[in-house]
Amino acid sequence: MLANYKILTVTHKHTQLKEIGDFVIKAADSRALKARLEALKAGFQLDELLYLPTCNRVMYFFTTAQPITSQFISRFFQSVNPELPTAALSQIEDVVQCLEGEAALEHLLDVSASIDSLVIGERQILRQLREAFDQCWEWGLAGNFIRLAYQQAVVAAKAVYSNTRIGEKQISVVSLAVQKLLNAGLNKNARILMVGAGQTNQLVAKFLVKHAFDDIVVFNRTLGKAEQLAALLGGKAQPLDALPAYTSGFDCLIVCTGATNAVITPELYASLLQGEKGRKVAIDLAVPRNISEAVVENNDINYIEIEGLRHLAEANLAFREQEVEEARMILKEYLQEFPTLFKQRQLEIAMRRVPTEIKAVRHKAVNEVFRKEVEMLDGQTRELMERMLAYMEKKCIGIPMKVAREAVMARE
Ligand SMILES: NC(=O)c1ccc[n+]([C@@H]2O[C@H](COP(=O)([O-])OP(=O)(O)OC[C@H]3O[C@@H](n4cnc5c(N)ncnc54)[C@H](OP(=O)(O)O)[C@@H]3O)[C@@H](O)[C@H]2O)c1
Repeated sequence: MLANYKILTVTHKHTQLKEIGDFVIKAADSRALKARLEALKAGFQLDELLYLPTCNRVMYFFTTAQPITSQFISRFFQSVNPELPTAALSQIEDVVQCLEGEAALEHLLDVSASIDSLVIGERQILRQLREAFDQCWEWGLAGNFIRLAYQQAVVAAKAVYSNTRIGEKQISVVSLAVQKLLNAGLNKNARILMVGAGQTNQLVAKFLVKHAFDDIVVFNRTLGKAEQLAALLGGKAQPLDALPAYTSGFDCLIVCTGATNAVITPELYASLLQGEKGRKVAIDLAVPRNISEAVVENNDINYIEIEGLRHLAEANLAFREQEVEEARMILKEYLQEFPTLFKQRQLEIAMRRVPTEIKAVRHKAVNEVFRKEVEMLDGQTRELMERMLAYMEKKCIGIPMKVAREAVMARE
């Protein structure tokens, strides 16, 4: 049933970005994340689950027949984060959006087309959605119904990107952050330490190359990826665990990893400072943040994080508002088409039994109902009969599927 599609989500629209971290699953690595998601799926009796954390939202998209009550939401997020602050728990209904059925699908389409993003039209979301789906599919968390909704969301988003100007003059969280970095008046030969070598820092790196920054050291958990990025930047690469021993000082720290705890702790920051006193620039685009709050509070830092990009993003929204309306019209068409696709899918699933049952009829006819007559046939006739039965079997499998599909279409 379409009504079984449910979304629980926390986004930039309903809370400060730094609070989103409280609703994200904290796991040391992908193995631990898989185990946590499996436990969530089993514990809450979800049929299918897709988990999507991005820089301005965390989304749990699942299918279940259960009603989503306030109690369900509280228990769900206490399970996601057993250390959820009491303040967050008491305001949970203001912060968590709960969407069901068509509203959930509409939200999924809005997210994929990037009209619900902090930076409207940012295409990174499609890549993030694809990666999230692939991972949940591979882990057996998402199944056919989530796949159907996901595929429709991707097709709809592509239609929006190709038929509107929403993604024109590509603006992203990263480009806005770099704009702020440039406004900070950083010297071209400023000493830059980059921590993390994932997609986000790769985008940051392209801007650093464009603006000719040339003194960069990249630290990453996997050294090979740090080396690749350093090569692009004409910089040096080091493994992440070499960071505490780094003694050459810095002017700018760019930190963005998938770690769900602070990578730059007060102790590490103090050690990186090497006793230098001047103002530093730091970019932290991770959700949850990768630079500890205590570092930002107790040091002289021009701190650039996603929340601070909100006003720049709003200016971007004003520019694209007209396009958002166009996008909504396109998405509506794809949303309206979905119930038919859904029924066809249900039908396909129901029809999976057809081949086995037809095979069983053939087997029974030959081996029980007409057994005596078949035994009296000569070899050549028997072979002809087998060939005819095989032909009939093949043709019969396709007929019910075709008829049922036509019936669904006729009813729409
Ligand atoms: N993609 C965007 O457009 C975008 C924009 C703004 C903010 N963000 C946020 O940026 C963060 C990273 O996103 P991404 O898309 O760049 O991710 P990504 O491409 O998956 O890369 C993740 C990076 O973090 C490192 N990493 C992962 N877990 C770690 C851990 N436990 N300890 C240390 N390093 C770890 C990875 O190291 P290995 O190479 O060793 O795996 C890799 O360098 C997320 O919080 C995301 O929400 C993303």
